[in-house]
Formats: sequence, structure tokens, C-alpha cells
Amino acid sequence: MAENNKPPVEAAQRKDAAASPAAQVKEPFYDLAKWGTKPPEGEELISTAYGDKVTRDLAFVENKPGVHKPDPILVADDVVRRFGGMTAVDVGHFEIERHGITALIGPNGAGKTTFFNLMTGFDTPDTGSWRFDGRDMQHVNPEHVARGGMVRTFQLTKVMSRLSVLDNMLLGAPDQPGEGMFRSLFPGMWRKKERENREKAEALLERFLLIKKKDDFAGSLSGGQRKLLEMARALMCDPKLVMLDEPMAGVNPALKQSLLDHIISLREDGTTVLFVEHDINMVRHIADWVTVMAEGRIVAEGQPKTVMDDPAVVDAYLGAHADVDLGDDAVLEGLEEHA
Ligand SMILES: Nc1ncnc2c1ncn2[C@@H]1O[C@H](COP(=O)(O)OP(=O)(O)OP(=O)(O)O)[C@@H](O)[C@H]1O
Ligand SMILES: [Mg+2]
Repeated sequence: MAENNKPPVEAAQRKDAAASPAAQVKEPFYDLAKWGTKPPEGEELISTAYGDKVTRDLAFVENKPGVHKPDPILVADDVVRRFGGMTAVDVGHFEIERHGITALIGPNGAGKTTFFNLMTGFDTPDTGSWRFDGRDMQHVNPEHVARGGMVRTFQLTKVMSRLSVLDNMLLGAPDQPGEGMFRSLFPGMWRKKERENREKAEALLERFLLIKKKDDFAGSLSGGQRKLLEMARALMCDPKLVMLDEPMAGVNPALKQSLLDHIISLREDGTTVLFVEHDINMVRHIADWVTVMAEGRIVAEGQPKTVMDDPAVVDAYLGAHADVDLGDDAVLEGLEEHA
């Protein structure tokens, strides 16, 4: 359902606060309903249309594990993965709301990465079924999963160190130039595609502040820049759902703020986001919905505030991470200053 990925308001554009000095003095305007389909003459608009919709829709959803949601893009049932005698994942029912930012949290070894691997075809469950955007996804290989619109990044980044940053991006393009006999017979056709892919890659590198590095080996990037590159590469195929496995791990504070902005901007573009994160502060600030996993199971889910203020969740599942300041805006403001 490609139309689901289109912004509901054509005129809605993400505004880069840094790009316009006016943006720094003017309050962003959030009430799309008031303006209808386009902002008044001379005004720019920060679209939070999807954020507002998701907040509204999820406000009425009960905070309990496996709860049904109004408009799920991914629905998993009875997904079990065992390693020897140990059950790494045992998810009875789980839904991810379309256009939302869902955080998947839980202690080390809870099964979060294994769950990502299963959903994206990198691993096969012992039992289970799942549907992505209405389509059965079991037995679909990772490449086809990605083409279908579900793309993930890895906890340990998988950029190709000996390829340039730009070539890494081009690897994420859905149609590789010259792929297949037919195409190779019509060079004009693939040259056009190649040019389009390159333009798209450069636009994304620009957005992710990596454009100056495009000809450098990816191996020369810092850990944080690799995370950005992986995220940018994941967007090359216009995914409907992006699954980010610890996008903030190893990222320095200055880049963290920019990563947060990127994740929020993904939602504004109509992309659904599922992310695994130990940084509770980040979860609290950007997630529309939080799911807690422990020992392979979904043990709690709900609005961030409700879930993360629940003493049972904090004690049992967040453990050592619970003493991180849970909601101090000053922390993020501090990061902005460093950016
Ligand atoms: N290939 C594998 N073979 C055997 N055991 C595995 C394998 N992959 C994961 N496990 C085990 O499955 C459990 C879940 O691991 P997983 O990596 O999914 O946890 P996680 O929630 O992502 O943890 P972390 O927060 O540390 O990344 C762990 O006990 C892990 O040791
Ligand atoms: Mg993991």
C-alpha cells in the first residue's frame, strides 16, 4: 500500500531548523487541522501529522502485552526460536503500529536482536508466522524482505570498510544497474537508473551529514558515522518499516542529537520505525510506544510514560539502565549545545 507512505498533507515539509534563521525564533506549527492542506502564505510547516495521528490512535490502546493496535504494519504470531535448550524468542502476539516510532527495550540477552533477525529473514524460527503490510513473510529471504519494504540495521554495523561511502550507499539501492541479462542489453536503461541511484545516495548523504566523506573508505568513518551510514543506506530502498538495532550505541553526543532528529524525520516522511535501545532517555523522548522484552517474551507494552514509570518494569526489566535520568530535557538540550 504505497499510498500509506505518502505524507497526508502535500505541503507538509520537514524544516531543517538550522537551515533557516527564522526557524530559530518562530515556534513550529503543529496543528495541521487548522491550516487544512497547506500553510498560510510565507509560513513554513513542520509536519507532525503522523506523530499526531499515532499519538491519537495509540492513546486508546490498552497497555498490555500483545495488545491489538488500530493500524498495524507488522503482526507476529507464536514466533519461537530456540538455541539448543534455550528459548531466545517466544513471542505470542505482537503488533507494530504503522507510522509510529516503537521502542523495543529489555535487558541484555532478552531476544531483541534475535527477533529482528527472524522478522527480516536473517534467521528462521522454530515456529511462527508474521505478516508485513498484509503479506506473509515467513520463508522470505532478507533481500526480498528489504524489497518488500522492511529494512533493518545491525547492532554491529555492517558497512563495507574497503568500499567508499558512496558505494556502500549504492549497495542499498533496490535496482542495481546492469542486474540481469535484459537490462545489460540496454545500457541506456541502466545508466539512467544508475544516475538516479547516485543522486538519491548523495541526497541522503547530504541529509546525514556525510556528503563530504562520500569518496572516503567507509572504514575511515567513526563508529557514529558508520551508524549514520547504515541508517542512510537502509533508506535507499524507501522502506515502509525501518528496524534499527541500537542506533545510538557507540555514537558520540554530538551525533546522537542528529540521529534523534533523523529518526523523528523518518516518521514525518511516513516511515514506520522500530528501534532497540538501551538509552532510556532517548526512548522516552522519541518513542510513541514502548515494548519490553525479557527472556524472549513481550512482558509489557504501552505509552512510554506508563511503561517506564511502572516500578515493576523498572525493577525487573530495565535493571542497571533504570538509573539513567529518565526524562530530563536538559540532557538533550545539553547535547544540542555540543552538536
Ligand atoms: N546464534 C546463536 N546461537 C546461540 N545462542 C544465541 C545465538 N544468537 C543469540 N543467542 C542467544 O539468544 C539470547 C538472545 O540474544 P539476543 O542477541 O537476541 O539478545 P538481545 O536482547 O539482542 O541482547 P543485547 O541487548 O545484549 O543485544 C541470548 O541468550 C543469546 O546468547
Ligand atoms: Mg541485541
